Amino acid sequence: NTRVLTGITPSGTPHLGNYAGAMRPSIEASTQPGVDAFYFMADYHALIKCDDPQRIARSRLEIAATWLAAGLDPEHVTFYRQSDIPEIPELCWMLTCVTPKGLMNRAHAYKANVDQNALRGTDPDDGVTMGLFSYPVLMAADILMFNANKVPVGRDQIQHLEMTRDIAQRFNNLYGGGRDLFVLPEVQVDDDVATLPGLDGRKMSKSYDNTIPLFEGGAKALRAAIMRIVTDSRGPGEPKDAEQSHLYMLYRAFASRDEAAQFRRQLEEGMGWGDAKTQLYDYLENILAPMRERYIALTARPDRIEDILQAGADKARKLSRPFMDQLREAVGLRAVA
Ligand code: TYM
Repeated sequence: NTRVLTGITPSGTPHLGNYAGAMRPSIEASTQPGVDAFYFMADYHALIKCDDPQRIARSRLEIAATWLAAGLDPEHVTFYRQSDIPEIPELCWMLTCVTPKGLMNRAHAYKANVDQNALRGTDPDDGVTMGLFSYPVLMAADILMFNANKVPVGRDQIQHLEMTRDIAQRFNNLYGGGRDLFVLPEVQVDDDVATLPGLDGRKMSKSYDNTIPLFEGGAKALRAAIMRIVTDSRGPGEPKDAEQSHLYMLYRAFASRDEAAQFRRQLEEGMGWGDAKTQLYDYLENILAPMRERYIALTARPDRIEDILQAGADKARKLSRPFMDQLREAVGLRAVA
């Protein structure tokens, strides 16, 4: 069987990028024969970006409910919270001890911070915590703990997967004694939706404040957000450059090939941006409305979500506990007698 694993950081409200870039493809993958799926809320990762306990608590619930509303079947998928698996931070420490600092110096999230400080003329490490710096090691622990073969993610996570392989290889060489303790995971990026643009055309991201919420605020908020998508100034009747249009990219991420081609033709034949936005809204609302109903019902019963996640953690720990014993033994931390 192929083990597929992915996570989402619960530090904000789930948006279209999370859904199209991570949830939808991973739910699809989980229904394929021969696939064992492991999907989780990366709530220890959330602490790196967010020090508001209420926001984290709310986001954990929202992300879990979204995943379930989108069709994740907890009977088939091992569905859990990172923070319910104590073996993950334990493994994170073991990996930290074999990870060269120079490797982490190259991590995008850290480098972006350093570059920003350079622009501001402040100390390079201003605002950088050890959590942010070693973020990729925790992510490697998430993946290696369950020996995932495939990790479906958006393009922004590719570097983290490369680092995970690098760290796994070092650990295998040091402690494997000729055999591999860790599987080297493969990254899986869906090319059609590799990076969903946000309202301003940059990658849709909590950190850019340019997201289109999936469910929050209902149909009204969805419409309002879509109406705010930035377009060029070409008026109705003028041919549009679909390939450059964020509206088209969003439409394409959800529609079938034929529907996307038709939308594209209409834009090239001069459909006005206002009409295009209305079409995009109608299309999305049609897909999202039934999911939103399930989402509202789910968030009204947090006790049920808690039960599902506890059951998921139990399933996951049946694997992580014995594997951690093996790893402790491998590094020389086994019981004396
Ligand atoms: P996070 O929470 O930033 O994003 C979750 C997933 O959504 C994808 N994504 C997007 N895809 C397309 N277009 C977008 N605009 C967009 N925005 C986000 C991300 O690529 C990601 O796949 N570090 C990870 C969480 C994580 C993880 C892991 C993932 C922790 N441990 C282990 C896989 C395996 C993160 O912060 O994702």
